[in-house]
Formats: sequence, C-alpha cells, structure tokens
Amino acid sequence: MRAAISLLVLLLSMCGARTRTTRTEVQAESQGTGSAAEVSTQLDISAELKELSDMVVELRVMLRYTQEDVKVLEADNVAMKQRLAASETDNIAMKQRLAVSETEVEAAPKVAFSAGLGVSGSIESGSYYLDLVFSRVITNVGQAYSSKTGFFTAPVSGVYYFRFTVMDKLDTRYMAISMCKNGVQLMWLSEHDTDGQRTYLSSGLTLQLEKGDVVNLVLPTTYRLHDTSSNHSTFSGFLLFPL
Ligand SMILES: *[C@@H]1O[C@H](CO)[C@@H](O)[C@H](O)[C@H]1NC(C)=O
Repeated sequence: MRAAISLLVLLLSMCGARTRTTRTEVQAESQGTGSAAEVSTQLDISAELKELSDMVVELRVMLRYTQEDVKVLEADNVAMKQRLAASETDNIAMKQRLAVSETEVEAAPKVAFSAGLGVSGSIESGSYYLDLVFSRVITNVGQAYSSKTGFFTAPVSGVYYFRFTVMDKLDTRYMAISMCKNGVQLMWLSEHDTDGQRTYLSSGLTLQLEKGDVVNLVLPTTYRLHDTSSNHSTFSGFLLFPL
C-alpha cells in the first residue's frame, strides 16, 4: 500500500513539474508569436489537465484494489498462523503420546515360553496328582517358566495366555489333563479311545495373574501321557499385557 501511495505522489509531482514547464513555454511563446498561439497552448494545457485527472481517478481505483488485496492477504496470514499453531499443538500431543507408549513398552517385560514334555514313552500319575514338568525347553524368553518344576511364575501382574497339547495312545482307557493356578484347578479335560493310536487333548486359557501367581499343568490320578522326541505334548504361555 505504501508503494502505491509513493507512486501516486511521484506521478502528481511529475505532473506539477510538467505543468510548470508548459507555462514557461507558454510565456516564452506568447512573447514571440502572439495571441493565436496562446489560445492553442491553453487548449493543450486543459487537455493535459483532463488526462492527468483521469490518471488520478485510475490510480485511486488501483489503490482501492490494492488495499483490498492487502486485507485479503492479512486475513490469509492470520488463518495460516492459526493452522501453524494448531499443528504445533498436535505435534506436542503426538510427542507426549509417543513418550508414554515408549515408557509402556519399556515397562512391559518380554515373557513367552514353550516346552515339550521331553519323555520318551509314557508318564503315569498313579494315585496322586502329578505336577507335569515339561523339560524340553523350546522357547523361554524372560525365564518365567521353570523346566525343573514345570511351573510358570508371573513376573508382573497382567493378562497371560496359556495353551497346551498332550498326547496318549489310548487302548480302552481315558486320558485327562488339568490346568491349575496357584494349585487350584481351572479346567479338567478328558478323552476316551480304544484304537491304541495317538489321541490329543488341546486347549488354552487367558488368565489374569498377580505378580508371583503360578500356573502349571497337572496329570490327575490314574492317568497317563505319552511323548516321543517329536514334542507331541507341549505347554506354552506368554504375557499379553501388564495390568
Ligand atoms: C522338539 O523340541 C526340541 C527342542 O526345541 C527340538 O530340538 C526337536 O527338534 C523337536 N523335535 C521335533 C521332532 O521337532
């Protein structure tokens, strides 16, 4: 806008200079040539003045447009600044969320195991409940599972998932298995078959555990399991998320 005003001032001052020059010429000419020349010069001057006033009108119009443009630009600028501020706020919120989830990831221990029963042949419980020891460790990240005792001990409070598959060769007998938490039975499954071929029992549970709770598989009294080096009978578990 300032540029437009300066242009206007410059043009007006140029016009003033031009008018003065014309007047001086008129004086010089009128002294030399007389009144006919004087009349024609006056006509020229009024034509030029008309032209100049037209120019001034035109410049005013241009100036108004320029002022409107500036207003639009200023409004755009405000909107842009608001958007920038909003996206900076978003950015801060995103960084905070990232920091929180990084802390969560750091806080959640990595816990997952799988182990095979590791017996070649049959294992029988006899007249007591037998805590099964899956001694052939396949995976034991976090060492929460003990291949000596067969117990999984929750390293943190949270939600865990446990599953198993066990096998026996059934010839007119039953097989059974149970899963226990802190010595308390959570499920008891059985199967009966007579063909002497392999029969599998498989299931799983999602458990909410407190830190230090134990989970294991138990062979109920009078039952039997069978395994070979093929890992027919396995016990697995992992932490889903801490609570
Ligand atoms: C059973 O698991 C053990 C231990 O991971 C492994 O070395 C072996 O190859 C597995 N057996 C079969 C038949 O996959």
